[in-house]
Amino acid sequence: MDINLIKSQFPIFTKKIKGKPLVYLDSSNSSQKPTSVLNSLDYFYRNEFSNIGRSIHSLAVNATNKYEETRTSIKNFINANSKDEIVFTKNATESINLVASTFGQENIKKGDEILITELEHHSNYVPWHYLRETKGAIIKFAPINDDGDIIISKLKELITSKTKIIAVTHLSNVTGTIVPIKEIVEIARKKNIPVLVDGCQSAPHIKIDVKDLDCDFYAISAHKVYGPTGVGILYGKKKWLEKLPPYIGGGGMINEVNKDKITYASVPEKYEAGTMPTAEVIAFNESIKFMESIGIQNIIKHEKELTNYALEKLKKINSVKIIGNPKNKAGVISFVIKGIHPHDISTIVDEEGVAIRAGHHCCQILHNRLNLSATARASIGVYNTKEDIDILCKAIENCRKVFELK
Ligand code: ALA
Repeated sequence: MDINLIKSQFPIFTKKIKGKPLVYLDSSNSSQKPTSVLNSLDYFYRNEFSNIGRSIHSLAVNATNKYEETRTSIKNFINANSKDEIVFTKNATESINLVASTFGQENIKKGDEILITELEHHSNYVPWHYLRETKGAIIKFAPINDDGDIIISKLKELITSKTKIIAVTHLSNVTGTIVPIKEIVEIARKKNIPVLVDGCQSAPHIKIDVKDLDCDFYAISAHKVYGPTGVGILYGKKKWLEKLPPYIGGGGMINEVNKDKITYASVPEKYEAGTMPTAEVIAFNESIKFMESIGIQNIIKHEKELTNYALEKLKKINSVKIIGNPKNKAGVISFVIKGIHPHDISTIVDEEGVAIRAGHHCCQILHNRLNLSATARASIGVYNTKEDIDILCKAIENCRKVFELK
């Protein structure tokens, strides 16, 4: 695997930030885009643009076919049973909102319980919180240990006859914890409880096989897997997508409309109302092809090596404390430096062209659990190199000098 060759596919890496080559370590936030994705967007808008699924002229047929090709690619990428189980949404957040809202309408009543975990991003908490506000649902949080692993025995204890759904991340965007989804689904299956997986962070970094996981729902954002913004998917087992009510109403999601009666399109169109981000869905296919051209196993190997390298180097820097030490960790490294606010760390390393994120990373519950208000976070993408990590570490050393830390 030639990283320089991979990096050369990303035009942004020819740019300078503050006169320095860009060291991009914010891929958990959003990944950079390869030329193939950028070209796809440009080509489609210049040469092939049309709306999909409505008109029957040549451009419309071509656009519809390409749009559907992406659906098939994603079906294969996550090993779904059928392409009808792939719904295009705006992003993983919208996918989770879709499930919380439609599942909630039909299946949640006052006193029913929704089980999530202390690791969750706000996008896998706030939509469930709405059901607490509107329906009187109870939200329970499976606790984590100090390493950042979910305590599975406690999660099990929290399940009651009132637990209606379990919603859990596959990979923490703060600690990098890879969550044992299969184990959680097996526990849930015994009690007939559906499981939604927030796969926003996992999709770029680990092999996803929804058949093997046997989860009921899986949410992904394209912009995290080297694809465009504005598009994501919800995988849902067909039985669920068929059973749940529609979410957003409008054109494209109906079968027949009368003054007194409306019938809905079959899935997945039932959930794709209005003009969809057509060009972005089509370009999303290029990002899947990009990942497949490298091979997910090669991506895993490269990122594992880089993560270990970064952890070793960062641990050697005085006063750097890495947050969490999970059993299975991906390339998401949050850290604090005693005496320097994470925002100051981020601002100072930015002077060296290093992009990291600082703050609570949309995980206030997790930060509260860890007694922290904010952390600095370096997150790895397939284009990162050991040199990037060296530059980060040097920039952190500079930061310590600015604050005169010993
Ligand atoms: N964009 C969010 C992050 O940076 C998910 O972690």
